[in-house]
Amino acid sequence: MQEIYLDNAATTPMSPEVVKVMTDEMAHDFGNASSTHAIGRKARQAVEHARKLIASSINADPEAIIFTSGGTESNNTAIMEVARSRKHVGKRIITTKIEHPSVLNPLKRLEQAGFEVIYLDVDQTGHISLDQLREALTPDTILVSVMAVNNEVGSIMPLAEIGALVKPTQAYFHVDAVQGLGTIDLDIKAMSIDLLSTSAHKINGPKFLGFLYENPDLALPSFVLGGEQEHKRRAGTENVPAIAGFGEAVRELTAIDKNQLQANYQAFQQLILERLKSAGADFAVNGSLTGAVSHHVLNLSFPGISTYVLLTRLDLAGFAVSGGSACTAGSLTPSHVLAAMYGADSPRLGDSIRISFGRFTTSEQVAAFAEALTKLVLELQSK
Ligand SMILES: Cc1ncc(COP(=O)(O)O)c(C=O)c1O
Repeated sequence: MQEIYLDNAATTPMSPEVVKVMTDEMAHDFGNASSTHAIGRKARQAVEHARKLIASSINADPEAIIFTSGGTESNNTAIMEVARSRKHVGKRIITTKIEHPSVLNPLKRLEQAGFEVIYLDVDQTGHISLDQLREALTPDTILVSVMAVNNEVGSIMPLAEIGALVKPTQAYFHVDAVQGLGTIDLDIKAMSIDLLSTSAHKINGPKFLGFLYENPDLALPSFVLGGEQEHKRRAGTENVPAIAGFGEAVRELTAIDKNQLQANYQAFQQLILERLKSAGADFAVNGSLTGAVSHHVLNLSFPGISTYVLLTRLDLAGFAVSGGSACTAGSLTPSHVLAAMYGADSPRLGDSIRISFGRFTTSEQVAAFAEALTKLVLELQSK
């Protein structure tokens, strides 16, 4: 059976070059990057080479890059360590209602510990209001955490404008850029970002690896305690092959024109939408197709069809897409993102699917998917 993968916001296939770099590394360089002998020094070289590539992709200094186990750990580290080290300065944190659970759940824990968390609203395109942020930014705010690109509807947050608002205050600015790396240009200096989280498996790199950019001036304590790896900022023996693979994935990305990539994704979106429209299917787009949006995600609502039924039928036909809520261990709990955009009782929470494209998606794959989806939707809507 054919297998067509359109769930790239959940994870991406590894690039062949990344696999090659990693297998070479695994076969030949088993050293511990902290060892002082030649075999260790070789491993250290691979780590530092990747660190340099990665740092320059976000306009950061290599010393500011801390390798972690992924987006989840980077988000937890940024949030928990800012809270722990700055609780005497203030207890107010600002975020949005549509962050990933790896931001929302640490914040929930902080609320239980007496912190005040302000959740900014979003409109029906998945965007916040800068006025609401301006009003919420009181002198006791210690952290503003806003994602770069939403993983369910693709809305791009105005990072430079948020950074400019936060910069003159005493708050730190943290960005969950897991869906942003590879889809939009990120520049920690131009955007006044203090902390930035990423994940390798969303950009055709390996799983369970990411980095946290941390402005060294913040001098935050380590979240994971142990040895002195990562300049004492993240203990644990570095996963050298995965780090080398992440470096290669970032190197490939920097050679790609992001505007061209977005144009390709936009053409894929249009292919699907045109097919559905011309067949008379009943559907609505969740979020926006234009403006500040990354086109790698297309979130669609199909009135009268349950997400579960549509996903199952598509899966049986060989198409991998996902429900409105992603990443939460295969669950189909109603999406908090769609709830924030359309209200908790909106039917869209039970009838939406997310289609997401990647660097290796082809228009033939998308055309085959559009055909199968349209047929299924017409059948299930009894048209
Ligand atoms: C926006 C966002 N943040 C964080 C994460 C978590 O990243 P990881 O899977 O590397 O832990 C994800 C994963 O889906 C994500 O989409």
